[in-house]
Amino acid sequence: MRIIEVETYEELSEVGAQIIIQKVRKEPNSVLGLATGSTPIGLYEKLVHDYEQNGTSYQHVTTFNLDEYVGLDEGHEQSYRTYMNDHLFDQIDIDKQQTHIPKGDAPDLVAEAQYYEERIQHADGIDLQILGIGRNGHIGFNEPGTPFSSRTHIVDLTPSTREANQKFFGNLDLVPTKAISMGIATIMASKEILLLISGPAKAEAYQRLIHGKMEEQFPASILQLHPRVTVVVEKS
Ligand code: GLP
Repeated sequence: MRIIEVETYEELSEVGAQIIIQKVRKEPNSVLGLATGSTPIGLYEKLVHDYEQNGTSYQHVTTFNLDEYVGLDEGHEQSYRTYMNDHLFDQIDIDKQQTHIPKGDAPDLVAEAQYYEERIQHADGIDLQILGIGRNGHIGFNEPGTPFSSRTHIVDLTPSTREANQKFFGNLDLVPTKAISMGIATIMASKEILLLISGPAKAEAYQRLIHGKMEEQFPASILQLHPRVTVVVEKS
């Protein structure tokens, strides 16, 4: 693992954004894996700023998001589709047809998960996957105990993850109980991974990622096995 320690959230966002920008400039038809949550918001702001200032083009980029809540339609204000449109897609020149997010309101969720996985394979896999980390070590929405061999699937969200996301919904009762998420094996198949870790609430998860043992009870620990992971972490 390559570890880059930074002082501030601003710096974390800039370092992360530069990794994406360099990738897209070098390989304009890159397949990017995208994440949501609070952590990558600053990175997306930096990408938009760079697009406006320097014109880095995303016209030929394809994207796959990690996950989506079950039960929210695309237009729901807390859907990850709305998040991505607001923070990135509506502000750059990407072709929305080439942006993929699991459909949380699909009538057959199992079929949707399988179809999503197939589309990733069809795109020849993900070149660069952005990740955040949950306090309990979840990546995407793969909660502790998820098999390392998992592919895109339906997951039950743990109480701690629902509480962590309550701030976005206002009320815990409104936070969905399930999500559709790339699996751990899906994430591990990415050619390169960029993991962003920000804030004191993640300090313990960071320590466990670096020093802990590899176990399904701490999903992010599998990243120790990936040959090309960059961790950008705010010093705490
Ligand atoms: C959410 C997302 C994850 C994200 C994580 C951390 O549950 N599904 O992809 O990495 O939680 O979120 P945050 O960056 O808001 O702490």
